[in-house]
Amino acid sequence: FVGVKLGILGLGTVGTGTVQLLLDRTERHPLLQEIEILRVGVKSVEKPRDVQLPSGTLSSDLTSIVTDPKIDIVVELIGGLEPARSLILQAIDCGKHVVTANKAVISRFGDEILNAANKAGVYVMLEAAVGGGIPVVQPLKQSLSVNRIQAVTGIVNGTTNYILTKMQTQGSSFDDVLSDAQRLGYAEADPTADVDGWDAADKISILAAIAFGGRIKRDEVYCEGIRQVSQTDITYAEKLGFTIKLLAIAKREESSPLAVKVHPTLVPIDHPLASVSGVYNAVLVEGEPLGQVMFSGPGAGAGATSSAVSSDILNLVARIKSSPFNEKANGKNAKPQITCLDP
Ligand code: HSE
Repeated sequence: FVGVKLGILGLGTVGTGTVQLLLDRTERHPLLQEIEILRVGVKSVEKPRDVQLPSGTLSSDLTSIVTDPKIDIVVELIGGLEPARSLILQAIDCGKHVVTANKAVISRFGDEILNAANKAGVYVMLEAAVGGGIPVVQPLKQSLSVNRIQAVTGIVNGTTNYILTKMQTQGSSFDDVLSDAQRLGYAEADPTADVDGWDAADKISILAAIAFGGRIKRDEVYCEGIRQVSQTDITYAEKLGFTIKLLAIAKREESSPLAVKVHPTLVPIDHPLASVSGVYNAVLVEGEPLGQVMFSGPGAGAGATSSAVSSDILNLVARIKSSPFNEKANGKNAKPQITCLDP
């Protein structure tokens, strides 16, 4: 028993789903036995919760969690820019590995965070930041790394894809479907980020940085959401053999700079992205010599996102356990020498 101790920040939809998965003792994964949820940071300690945690686990002092010397991994699930960015940097500074689902922070401060992690010799895991439950960050970074990527095109926001699908298949009104998406735990706390395309812009910036290398200036990503898409647009598009999707695109045209953009797009109904419906996301990667490969699956919600977060945690636990420099595994007093997953 290694006893890797977690400090989880945030107990909203994803935080609750993650805690439920980690506490599952039904032989889901042997390494779950090695994990202890030591502390969970929340805004309100008194608020009733859907998970049972040992008393004394909850705390509203998030700084004391990321600086707690007993904690090995900080799992940041509070979202938004601040205090999330500062807490992540503080955790790294204190030598802790970090798992995050925070696309807003990674798309803007990924460089700063990953450089800090490199210096500190810790990992930052971010699979859950893009595509919910779809494994796309690691495959793009590792399994496809030899390819010359020409384009990454994605449906990377579950809420807007859910809204567009329901408008198309049931003729539902935008506002009704948005409330549904909020109730189902797909939408951000402020759904403007979904509806206006900012969340998709965050995610395509991260994918573009991984696929093409270098730094993507998030503020320069062209971004148009789905507010202007009407039922009439959808009906006419269908008559002409198209469906309307909010696409996030990163594309290198010959001799021109990389274009990174998000906008509603007419997609021919026989295109692979056309059939991606509801809360599903998909990422189509085009590369040489690979050709096309598409990743698709549930892109938002507690189950999908906590699957990615929890798997990142288990990957870290496995690395901590097997590291020859790990004092927890070997009883030696040596520093880990780990390089981080920089994009
Ligand atoms: N609000 C996001 C979405 C959650 O709808 O895709 C997953 O990142």
